[in-house]
Order: sequence, then C-alpha cells, then structure tokens
Amino acid sequence: MHSEIAQIRLVGSHPEVYDPCDDSFALVDALLADRATLFEHQPSICMEIGCGSGYVITSLALLLKELGSSTHYIATDINPHAVQVTSETLEAHNCHAEVINTNIASGLEKRLFRCVDVMVVNPPYVPTPEDEVGCYGIASAWAGGENGRRVIDKILPVADVLLSDKGWLYLVTLTDNKPLELCLEMRKKGYASRIVLQRSTDEERLHIIKFWRDLNILSEANEFETLNKTRDGVRTGFSFLSPFSIWK
Ligand SMILES: C[S@@+](CC[C@H](N)C(=O)[O-])C[C@H]1O[C@@H](n2cnc3c(N)ncnc32)[C@H](O)[C@@H]1O
Repeated sequence: MHSEIAQIRLVGSHPEVYDPCDDSFALVDALLADRATLFEHQPSICMEIGCGSGYVITSLALLLKELGSSTHYIATDINPHAVQVTSETLEAHNCHAEVINTNIASGLEKRLFRCVDVMVVNPPYVPTPEDEVGCYGIASAWAGGENGRRVIDKILPVADVLLSDKGWLYLVTLTDNKPLELCLEMRKKGYASRIVLQRSTDEERLHIIKFWRDLNILSEANEFETLNKTRDGVRTGFSFLSPFSIWK
C-alpha cells in the first residue's frame, strides 16, 4: 500500500461524523489499484460526494500528489460537522480541497457541469426504514431506505450532469443495492461499468463499481431511446441493453 495513505491519521473526530470503516478502506484500495491509470487520466477536477471524515478525498489527493496543482479537489457533505472534520484531515496532511456543506452537489451544477474527471462516492447504502434517510445524527451516514437506494438514486443523475466526457465514477455499493440494476440504469445513460473490487466483511458484501462514458453504449442508448419513442410508448427496446455485456 502507498505508505502515506497507510498512515492517514484521524486528526479530528465528532460523534456525528462517520469514521473510516471497511467500505472507506475498500474504496481507497480500489483507487490505489487504479493508481497508474488515474495518473494517465490526468484529472483536472476530482470530487467526493459525502466526504465524512475526509479519509477518501485526502487519500486521493495524496495518491495524485505528483500531479501537483493542476488537479483541483472538491468534497461535499450534507453534515456540517463532516465538513469541519474533512477540512482538518486535509490540512493535517498538507492537502487542499474545497469542502462544501451541501446536499449532494446542490448549487454546484452550473459551475461543475461536465467538468469532473474523477468522482468518488461512498453513499449511505444500508437498507433501512424510509424515515431514517436524511435524519439528523450519525444514522444519516448509512441510512439508505428501501434497498439502500434512496440516496444512491439521487446521486447517479447528478454524477451524469457533472462528469466530464472522460469522467470516471467510483461508487461503493452492497449486494442489497442491486448493483446490476444500477449498472443497467447507467447504461441507459451511456455508461459502461465494471466492478473493480469486491470484498466481504463480517456484515456485508461490498462492490466498488467504476462507471465511465462509452461512445458505443451511448449510441446504443440513443437508439434504444429513439425506438421507444417511435413505438407508441410500448417499451420493446430492452434487447439492446444486454446485461451480460456490462461486466467487462
Ligand atoms: C458512509 S458515509 C462515508 C463517509 C466517507 N466518504 C468515508 O468513506 O469514510 C456517507 C457520508 O455521506 C454523507 N451524506 C449523506 N447524505 C448526503 C447527501 N444527501 N449529500 C451529501 N452528503 C451526504 C453523510 O453525512 C456521510 O458523511
């Protein structure tokens, strides 16, 4: 493992901020495994949605340190305490990011439209009763409602708006979140996907999915859309989107 990342310290903490856990480590391990391609990718803007303690965005900034000031980092969290703790973690590791207290990326859509080259998200993904989603306190860090999908389903359309043409999204999911269904949803928007890391812990089976725009899939998705529109609303075009071609 990259030595500086292995040594990331939790400098700040708050009872209502999610401490790095198996899911955070899995996401950073996936980024580390992709390190060479991330360098080649030369991202100008990297963004984390739901930064919590700042462990992931700080790891990413350290991982890409050699790219220098040509890379700008942005992190958001709906929890103001997370914004504070992330800022402290970044500063303690001599990293810089804009850390913004907002819901997903609200208010940033215009400025970041099609600009984000790397997006990382470890969302609240645990299946819970709907009324726990977005509540105050630490539960909002993991509460994902039905199938754990409430927040994920809001983040994916935002990612589609913000990702650049060459943009990559790394998303943490659980088996309960129906990752294949998520890949099909994104395929309809023109994204290819691949599970870059799978890990079982005592409690859960994690998948880190990487999404990127693919021109062939995009034209396939456009044909699918056109076909649907021309068939008087009868949705018969699904054969275009073979789920078996997703897992490259
Ligand atoms: C599972 S924690 C992950 C924290 C950190 N990224 C990590 O991997 O350790 C999910 C984070 O998403 C934040 N979050 C939940 N709903 C959000 C929303 N609608 N917009 C932005 N952040 C949100 C939570 O406050 C929490 O910090």
